Amino acid sequence: MKYFIVTYGCQMNVHESEKIATILENKGYQCGQSREEADIIVFNTCAIREGAEDRVFGNVGALKKLKRKNKDLIIALCGCMTQKEKTAEYIMRTFPFVDICIGTFNLPKLGDYIDAVKFGRRQTEIWEEGDIDETIAYTRTSGDNAWINIMQGCNNFCTYCIVPYVKGREKSRKEEDILNEVRSVLKEGKYKKITLLGQNVNSYGKDLLPAVSFAKLLKDICLIPGDFTISFMTSHPKDLTDEVIDTIANEDKIEKYIHLPAQSGDNRILKLMNRKYTREDYIKIIDKIHAKIPNCRITSDYIVGFPTETEEEFQRTMSLVEYVKYDNIFAFMYSPREGTVASKMDGQIDEKIKHDRVNRLLALVKRLQKEEK
Ligand code: 5AD
Ligand code: SF4
Repeated sequence: MKYFIVTYGCQMNVHESEKIATILENKGYQCGQSREEADIIVFNTCAIREGAEDRVFGNVGALKKLKRKNKDLIIALCGCMTQKEKTAEYIMRTFPFVDICIGTFNLPKLGDYIDAVKFGRRQTEIWEEGDIDETIAYTRTSGDNAWINIMQGCNNFCTYCIVPYVKGREKSRKEEDILNEVRSVLKEGKYKKITLLGQNVNSYGKDLLPAVSFAKLLKDICLIPGDFTISFMTSHPKDLTDEVIDTIANEDKIEKYIHLPAQSGDNRILKLMNRKYTREDYIKIIDKIHAKIPNCRITSDYIVGFPTETEEEFQRTMSLVEYVKYDNIFAFMYSPREGTVASKMDGQIDEKIKHDRVNRLLALVKRLQKEEK
């Protein structure tokens, strides 16, 4: 029996798919090379922008033919998109050949849902919350890089973002569990890179008793003997402490690289986004990073066309990007997500204007990258 997993979205999903692979292997499936030869197909979905969801809908629709050829094929959907109850209901109604539709917290039970489907029952289940699963090891698939999850969820409620609604509140793993995972990964001998994952790694450990800081976690991982490097994502500018910057500067094992999403260069828009820092705060952090960590690579995410964003405000995003001289940025057109505060704001921006702004921003980054060389 073969499985095939299709992963959408961020690195956390890539890592989550490693967990899905393990669950399937424990059920006796082996990794297949295509959808055509699979006995079970799992879509690990993303809900961050409408485009991501549209891709899932299109690709699920295309599975109808395969199911007609192979009645025993099991089709399962999980991840951020299916955590939204209305979306899960819509999927089960629209695609009667989908067998399993489960939310982000239900993943550890995937094996049970598969068993139930074999007895002929379609499965939809979405829990509202759940603890980080410490029982399932990972079938790692990312070469010499080992992803290690340090926390789940997000407390920030940036007004455009669906993540807090589909991943729940921040929950940190115990430091000892993380250190043990790093030790066991290194023991295998084939991993040279450890990448720590979380929506907001800089607030790691605030919910633990006693609290542990992200800087302490980094330092403790560095104490583990071995020839390896550490990187992490994603950092929120409001929580990036001097101690973390100093730790990156002082520890040889930590990569000199920070992904620091700014989202906008304009203070009115940052406020509307609920980002809790100003353009000036952001510049101060960037200057500090440059001063303390020579040659540190910096990348960022920006959203253009947030509701009510004017041309002048967009120009302030352009000027911030020009100031920082990023190694790279990811530029996104604002996509309204149902249930978020921003989706209900007046002054939604025309798609054409969003396209134009995103193209100008990307052209600027390209020009800056060329000048740098
Ligand atoms: N529309 C566009 N981009 C978004 N992002 C998050 N939510 C949205 C949205 N509704 C972007 C942010 C974030 C990245 C992962 O995705 O820039 O940092
Ligand atoms: Fe979304 Fe903001 Fe949380 Fe990042 S910090 S996951 S953008 S709510």
